Amino acid sequence: MALVDPHSYADDAQARTKHLRLHLAVDFATKRIEGRAVLVFAEPASGPLDLDTKGLTISAVTGSAGNEVLFETFPEDPILGTRLRLKLPAGTTEVLLRYHTSPDAIGLQWLDPEQTEGKKHPYLFSQCQAIHARTIVPCQDTARFRVTYHAEVTVPAPLSAVMSAGPSGTIEGKGTRTFLFDMPQPIPTYLLALAVGELESRDLSPRARVWAEPATVEKAAWEFAGIEEMIVKAEGLFGPYDWDRYDMLVLPPSFPYGGMENPRMTFLTPTLLAGDRSLVDVVAHELAHSWTGNLVTNATAEHFWLNEGFTVWAERRILEAIHGEEAATLGWAIGQKALEESVARFGADSPLTKLRTHLSGIDPDDAFSSIPYEKGARLVVLLERTVGRAAWDAFLADYMKHFRFQSITTEEFFAFLEEKLPGTAAKVNADAWLHEAGLPANAPVFRSEKLEALTALAEGWEKGARPTNEQVAGWNPSETLLYLQHLPRKLSAGDCAALDAAFGLSGKGNHELLVEWLTIAAGSDYEPAFGKVREVLSRVGRMKYLRPLYGALGATERTRALAREIFAAASPTYHGLSRRVVAGVLEKYPA
Ligand code: BES
Ligand code: ZN
Repeated sequence: MALVDPHSYADDAQARTKHLRLHLAVDFATKRIEGRAVLVFAEPASGPLDLDTKGLTISAVTGSAGNEVLFETFPEDPILGTRLRLKLPAGTTEVLLRYHTSPDAIGLQWLDPEQTEGKKHPYLFSQCQAIHARTIVPCQDTARFRVTYHAEVTVPAPLSAVMSAGPSGTIEGKGTRTFLFDMPQPIPTYLLALAVGELESRDLSPRARVWAEPATVEKAAWEFAGIEEMIVKAEGLFGPYDWDRYDMLVLPPSFPYGGMENPRMTFLTPTLLAGDRSLVDVVAHELAHSWTGNLVTNATAEHFWLNEGFTVWAERRILEAIHGEEAATLGWAIGQKALEESVARFGADSPLTKLRTHLSGIDPDDAFSSIPYEKGARLVVLLERTVGRAAWDAFLADYMKHFRFQSITTEEFFAFLEEKLPGTAAKVNADAWLHEAGLPANAPVFRSEKLEALTALAEGWEKGARPTNEQVAGWNPSETLLYLQHLPRKLSAGDCAALDAAFGLSGKGNHELLVEWLTIAAGSDYEPAFGKVREVLSRVGRMKYLRPLYGALGATERTRALAREIFAAASPTYHGLSRRVVAGVLEKYPA
């Protein structure tokens, strides 16, 4: 046995899937996908083949000649799910598995019509990263392996389906529509993605389009109108965009992340629709994954920083190219706060604050934090500053060319760095970054006059420092966010009222600002904001917002009661991942 990914039963000594043919029938009544999955192997195979499954009911497995293939299931592991062992007869080139998913598959969220904008039709979306593809398709669910895929997805007639693939036709049936997709580029299974709902699209450029429910699609088209410029800037930095189209889907508000880099179809939270294009950094991030991530990704969750750290770095290079150095510096400063919060949450000496993690027995969703993102990106900046930007950019181009469509480990990355830029890793003391907890002393610092003025003003709050109305009016959303982030977490009712009034915070469409404000208000037991807190927590499922808001509500008995009441009412509408995160936050409240 050669198991190398602690989160997959995939075995290097066995056959390797290189292509998937999927027939998926989406049934909203039973909240199940009836699936047929054909696994096509790289070479004719025989003997045992271990697949990852979780909550799947397998009804039959057959070989290419229609022959029955014997299979065996093992006891379920709470994190990995169930090992499904097929016994392949000699010379098997492909197998067909008939199965259906479970209504509580964590990789899927089934929304009732009330949870959508239009309120008329149900909605379904997937979220496979890190290890949830196995709740939708039986597969070798490790980032180490890549597959191409063809899919035929049958949905109720008024609805549409989109996937992380190119659309290749529609077949009208009796009361149904079948959407065809092809993904010719090899992807790890965590990038499989599907969404079904009442969807419309608007073209933003010849290669970019945004999808959303009809009621949101115009707003989405306006918000993301600059996408082509962003793609062109990114191409200037990282080379040609290799995925043909860059389409985006704006999901219903229960989507648990800000964005997900599903190739050819980035998934986005509707909380990005601020009405002023102020949150497009998330799009820059997901777009950047087209290079740092989808072209070269982490071999396993233990090397997640390679994926997200490089992408945060790339995102800020894109922002710098579009909005200038000052804007990028603000991004770094805002990220610094997120990093500090994650370190505080795990504890400064927690092994989860290392970049190279060891996650055997640990659910990748529980290890998730801003650390691989922000600590990882800081290591990339340190490397960049050490060799100089020109040399770094040349190295990166080389790196992406060398590892295109591969999935690599931290150790492989550093071996390549050593070969191309010898001595660099030692110069930055990379070992400390990778294998020691917390943030090393040589971490790059990001400074600007603006930054210093904003933080000094915020940190002077208790001594009576206040921005003038002209200052407030002159700040852009990132500047305001940074200011709010540096305010004390607990303010008097009078100060809360003044703050809200000065910035118009409760009326903000920018959810970064709204949630930062509500987090202060919640932690300050500020009753006039409770209605808004309840509204946001009942509507929005983005974990980045739920965690701090519910956390802040832990401050007093009254706010804890409020949190429990909101959660009891809202949790049936949350994605399973969000529900788990919030339950964990509430568990830590004092009894
Ligand atoms: N790939 C991530 C989201 C993710 C990570 C989903 C791990 C599941 C497991 C995505 O690219 C991401 O990082 N999204 C961020 C955007 C931010 C860093 C700009 C988010 O959702 O907040
Ligand atoms: Zn990312």
